[in-house]
Amino acid sequence: MISVAIDGPSGAGKSTLAKRLAKELGYIYVDTGAMYRSIGLFGLREKADLQDAAAMQQLLPRIHLELASIDGAQHIYLNGEDVSETIRQEQVGMAASAVAAHPCVREFLLGLQRGMAEKQNVLMDGRDIGTVILPKATVKIFLTASPEARAQRRMKELVEKGQPADYEKVLEDIRQRDYQDTHRKTAPLRQAEDAVLADTSELDFEESFALLKKIIAEKAG
Ligand code: DC
Repeated sequence: MISVAIDGPSGAGKSTLAKRLAKELGYIYVDTGAMYRSIGLFGLREKADLQDAAAMQQLLPRIHLELASIDGAQHIYLNGEDVSETIRQEQVGMAASAVAAHPCVREFLLGLQRGMAEKQNVLMDGRDIGTVILPKATVKIFLTASPEARAQRRMKELVEKGQPADYEKVLEDIRQRDYQDTHRKTAPLRQAEDAVLADTSELDFEESFALLKKIIAEKAG
């Protein structure tokens, strides 16, 4: 089986690039952030203390996640409900980052994620795919961009969706999430030693896509 692991901070363009790369290569795209987001959403709905590992552990047996590809689009189901849109909210992203710090939550998702890579060729994106989930991945890419470049891209997305956007707030959220994701004890965000670094701060989408395609072709071709 071929596996491509793409890790990096939020807003670096992982999911948009990963989706298109997976389509072109004919691999299954696995968005692991969506899994953490769904658990974060469940915690928010239950009004649980997301910082409390024991409280989150209690919720896990009541969480069932499923991923499906419908007409080429990825959908995630939380206990049968399609939450693909709902989990994109800013506050759900923050909740995901909080619950992702707990070892019990990471353990809960580990088996699911590894199992998917055993059955099919996958392109999996997240924070710890190359370091923890698939240490033997065929290709490992660490995709990043400066916080400012990521904040500008996020602003553009929010404006296009007609949602209120404040650059300073967006930048602050990105910095906070980077801090949380890189400083947690369990599986922090970091570049695997054998990962190829791709910095897209100065690249547009097509240029970033071409760069990643080249890296994958060199390693998996
Ligand atoms: O990639 P994303 O923004 O959808 O991820 C949401 C949060 O989930 C992110 O802040 C950190 C966490 N996450 C993680 O800890 N490990 C992963 N493999 C994927 C996401």
